[in-house]
Amino acid sequence: MTTAITPKFPKFLHGGDYNPDQWLDRPDILEKDIELMKKSHCNCMSVGIFSWAQLEPYEGVYRLDWLADVIDNLYKNGIYTILATPSGGKPAWMTERYPEIARVNTNGQHELQGRRQNHCMSSPIYREKVRQINQTLAERFANHPGVIMWHISNEFGNTDSDCHCEHCQAAFREWLKNKYKTLDNLNYQWWNHFWSHTYTSWNQVHSPMPYGEYTCLGMLLDWKRFVTDLTYDFIRAEAEAVRPYNPQLPVTTNLMNMFGGLDYFKIKDVIDVVSWDNYPYWHSSDSEIGQAQRSATCHDLMRSLIPGKPFMLMESCPGPVSWHPASRIKRPGMHKLSSLQAVAHGSDTVQYFQWRMSRGGFEKFHGAVVDHYGEADTRMFKEVTDVGETLEKIQDVYGSTVKNDVAILFDWQNRWATEITLGPRKCGMHYDDDIYRHHHWFWENNIGVDFVCEDSDISGYKVVVAPLMYMLREGFAEKIRAFVANGGTFITTYVSGLVNENDLCYLGGFPGLIGDVLGMRATETDGLYDRQTIDVNYRGKIYQAFELCDLIAPSTAETIAEYASEFYASTPAITVNSFGKGKAYYLGARMGLDFLRDFYPQIMKDAQVEPVIGTKLPEGVVATRRTNEKEAFLFIQNYNNAPVQISLDRTYRDLQAGTDVSGSLELGNYGIAILSCPK
Ligand code: GLA
Ligand code: ZN
Repeated sequence: MTTAITPKFPKFLHGGDYNPDQWLDRPDILEKDIELMKKSHCNCMSVGIFSWAQLEPYEGVYRLDWLADVIDNLYKNGIYTILATPSGGKPAWMTERYPEIARVNTNGQHELQGRRQNHCMSSPIYREKVRQINQTLAERFANHPGVIMWHISNEFGNTDSDCHCEHCQAAFREWLKNKYKTLDNLNYQWWNHFWSHTYTSWNQVHSPMPYGEYTCLGMLLDWKRFVTDLTYDFIRAEAEAVRPYNPQLPVTTNLMNMFGGLDYFKIKDVIDVVSWDNYPYWHSSDSEIGQAQRSATCHDLMRSLIPGKPFMLMESCPGPVSWHPASRIKRPGMHKLSSLQAVAHGSDTVQYFQWRMSRGGFEKFHGAVVDHYGEADTRMFKEVTDVGETLEKIQDVYGSTVKNDVAILFDWQNRWATEITLGPRKCGMHYDDDIYRHHHWFWENNIGVDFVCEDSDISGYKVVVAPLMYMLREGFAEKIRAFVANGGTFITTYVSGLVNENDLCYLGGFPGLIGDVLGMRATETDGLYDRQTIDVNYRGKIYQAFELCDLIAPSTAETIAEYASEFYASTPAITVNSFGKGKAYYLGARMGLDFLRDFYPQIMKDAQVEPVIGTKLPEGVVATRRTNEKEAFLFIQNYNNAPVQISLDRTYRDLQAGTDVSGSLELGNYGIAILSCPK
């Protein structure tokens, strides 16, 4: 597998969403754009994402010449085009003529024209219209030397609700028939004999809506799977319309980390390259560590969708984000640091939304490379230019990948299940917080982490961490068993292994299918109210557990921590079991980072997991690593608004300075060092 994002231009991409259709009556501005793009060291633009109304102003009337001029002009000036399909924004004439293309919301109302990304993905008319415009674009531009890849639509799943129209209902029923074959089976798998929910005809089944059925948890899960499959199929159809014109052009669609309601581990199969949009809340508190850590988690998650391949930072903001509660301007240095954080985690692009600020419209105050003033002598423009120049200096890093010994399980289906289940904490199961918290420990200790889902192969890792693995699908239990038997270290927590893929509880004791691997049984779960805590004694020190505490009956496992308050004081809170050549930990109580900081070091030592740098870094400073066959590249990032002094463990090449460095190195406020050494 090639690691190049696109074979036509195998270099770091630097650019952004370019929406010249706003400025077609201002040739002076279009000309200025080119001048400024070159000045800022931008080499690619994503064009036409929401241009349908300009490309097909009337039904069947295509006006592509303006786009041809834009692509030609960019190319003549050394700037490549990522060409978008415009299905994220449907033209008004289309909704007027074919109301069925607009979505039906959860109240059963047919929506009117407006907003964006709110079409029905089942509508045969919409699909046909999308096919026509995509083919028209591909026919004209797929072989243009300046066009390097396809950007399919925009942010699938970024909408208020799914579509509940008759087309979608019918498709959902077909999907269910295909999965369950008989109504008896469906009634059993969804446990419909409870509350007399038994269906006697397929027509009685409808999608989850508040004024109808939404208490059938098996159905809620299947609806989400169905929407994922429907979205997959919609992207597939879009990609199939454009691919034949030039099979060399890769296809992507911009994802949204954990935001999306879609199972991206499925969606990734229909795209060639992962790309995603990152908008951290920088400067929303005194310390940037929280934001930096969350952003790091998201980069790792997005990269892990297609292992061994760099990803794209498709969108980020060069200034204030207008949809944040308050639009903080980026402090000096933060733009470069946050842009290169993506590269540090495996991105081969830095791209922005958008190139030039809109004069009007919904996003007119959203940060952009060129603001309303319109010239190059702005702080942001200079910082963007600095990023462009830096990417050119570190070209050796391009195509290198990230390889780790540790994986954290993030499973979208499990996440959905923890969100819909009633009990043990209706007031919040907080799966995402667990993911961030565990990732945080690895991040602050300079240990690289991948993410896996229950369908992934985990055999290549030394350590797998599976927080709140409430849903344990059968195949994954087998993988865990083999992983631990072969010497792996497996860590899971409270409320794990309770249900199968349909949210049916395992009978015979939790954690269901892997009780033998863990050598214990969770006998009861105490779901705590907010602010309630339970003491846990781990090696003589007391920690506070919160939200979820399992009571544990060990069989073969050894107890390594005990509860120290409540009636269950002196009973096991954490156990470890030797199984085959490996070890399996059960963390019965949810505890904070303070505990993880004492818990993880010994486990990593035992599992021989090493940090990417051999010296201790100051607080708020982290290192991540990419490698290729010959070299390792170390990114040392300072998230403090103050300079720091770090000590290096060997001699490195400083790729930005072009000199060798060893001993001690200073990083400025929000500074970043990019160092290389032989592998
Ligand atoms: C999303 C969209 C863009 C734009 C940005 C603004 O990521 O894809 O079109 O609206 O948000 O942050
Ligand atoms: Zn629909």
